[in-house]
Amino acid sequence: MSSDILEVLITEEEIREKVARLGEEIENDYRGKDLVAICILKGAAVFTMDLIRSINLPLTIDFMSVSSYGNTTKSSGVVKIVKDLDMDVSNKDLLIVEDIVDSGLTLSYIMEVMRGRGAKSVSLCTILDKPEGRKKDVHISYRGFTIPNEFVVGYGLDYAEKYRNLPYVGILKPEIYTK
Ligand code: IMP
Ligand code: MG
Repeated sequence: MSSDILEVLITEEEIREKVARLGEEIENDYRGKDLVAICILKGAAVFTMDLIRSINLPLTIDFMSVSSYGNTTKSSGVVKIVKDLDMDVSNKDLLIVEDIVDSGLTLSYIMEVMRGRGAKSVSLCTILDKPEGRKKDVHISYRGFTIPNEFVVGYGLDYAEKYRNLPYVGILKPEIYTK
């Protein structure tokens, strides 16, 4: 375990089982549809690549990058598209794949933008949900784990761009981001 981690919240094994279950659910719901999985970079990259391999359907993927946090642990509430999709999403069934829903500001903004572009449907799949941090209500169709209001890293999630490669989700030692 990394010495910067206070506690492992979700193990690699728990993540693997959950991703398989979410993939099955999505597979059942999207059979016969024009599924586009939209990975929100960079945090959701690890989860997206695992998830799409557990969905046994023809699908396409695209990537989008938004900025909301900078290098701090609190949401600024300001969402900016840093890298847009390559694809035209009109009439597609979009599944937005995210690492974590905290305030909900990022996701509600992205979902609104996608609806505005004429998507046939827009759903959200997140591996982590931190409901205590919510400022804007956002509907989560596929949820991995509900976690307490702690700053976590690993499985794609970072602090100042580090820790994304940890195979588990852990609580970062507060002294790392207060020093
Ligand atoms: P929201 O707009 O507050 O829901 O923020 C969502 C984004 O904030 C996520 O995509 C993450 O990039 C980041 N974020 C929120 N909570 C955490 C955390 O505990 N660890 C790492 N990143 C987080
Ligand atoms: Mg993110």
